[in-house]
Amino acid sequence: MPRHFIIDTDTASDDAVALIMALQWPDVEVDAILVTYGNLPVTTGSTNARYTVELCGKATPVYEGCVKPLLRDVAHAEEYHGPEGMGILGRLFPKRPAAEGHAVPELIRRCQAAPGEITLVTLGPLTNIAAALMIEPRLAEWVKQCYVMGGAANCVGNVTPGAEFNIWCDPEAARIVFHSGMSILMVGWEISRFDAVISEQEMQEIKAFGTDRARFTFDCNARALQYGVEFQAARGLMLPDPITVAIAIDPSLCTRRSWHYVDVACAEELTRGMTVVDELSVTGKRPNIEVCWAIDAPRWKKMLYATLR
Ligand code: RIB
Ligand code: CA
Repeated sequence: MPRHFIIDTDTASDDAVALIMALQWPDVEVDAILVTYGNLPVTTGSTNARYTVELCGKATPVYEGCVKPLLRDVAHAEEYHGPEGMGILGRLFPKRPAAEGHAVPELIRRCQAAPGEITLVTLGPLTNIAAALMIEPRLAEWVKQCYVMGGAANCVGNVTPGAEFNIWCDPEAARIVFHSGMSILMVGWEISRFDAVISEQEMQEIKAFGTDRARFTFDCNARALQYGVEFQAARGLMLPDPITVAIAIDPSLCTRRSWHYVDVACAEELTRGMTVVDELSVTGKRPNIEVCWAIDAPRWKKMLYATLR
């Protein structure tokens, strides 16, 4: 029996690899891809998502969603991913157009039609999900399990000292989602650092697989690899989105996880988007989010390679 995924993404270089993993995994059916602003404007993310779907020989519908945060100005991350978000590949030219209809009502419709059956994976800012929850709060019950690539669990952020990009983009949206009652495992960007990093040597090994997917992965992540090493003290390419999809595919990949009260800082610019995890239960508030603290890094890499060969 296939497992049904819906993936919400701001498709730049690491999102594209995450999409490949899900699209290629044998018992996973990606029912729909929802695009949000984030790394890039929605239209560019949509182009990249549709190209990635076609690269995998699939016909998964790609719906375009929110173009900006609920309250704040939009910010993108071309400097990290490169022009068009695709490293040295630049602008891509998919054959198929985006699917008819907006991503937000489509998410509600699909989850209402299959309550308890859909795994939702979010790889970008949470604006689409928050908008859907504002329209239909029962979405939180209809989603079987949500895996959020976002946040930094009581550690350094990647866009400010305290915040990770996806949550920082729209902290109000994240707060709505985190307190919606949806069953969420939060995978912070820190999980993609250190042992989980794909070294430059490993990137060359991926390129040597010689498949279209492997070459695409190498080329579209060329800028992110360079940026991470130069500006984020990385020892190679960090792939937070593919790691989150890998955990959604095989939850045992997350080797240390625990439930905590988690809130999102919205008031001050300094702390905007911080995911504050009440690790010691000092607030006495009921846990609302499960946090991933560690993964099996060698097994994560084996899963990635299996979808690129
Ligand atoms: O902070 C990393 C996250 O922000 C990833 O999802 C990356 O694609 C960007 O969306
Ligand atoms: Ca992303």
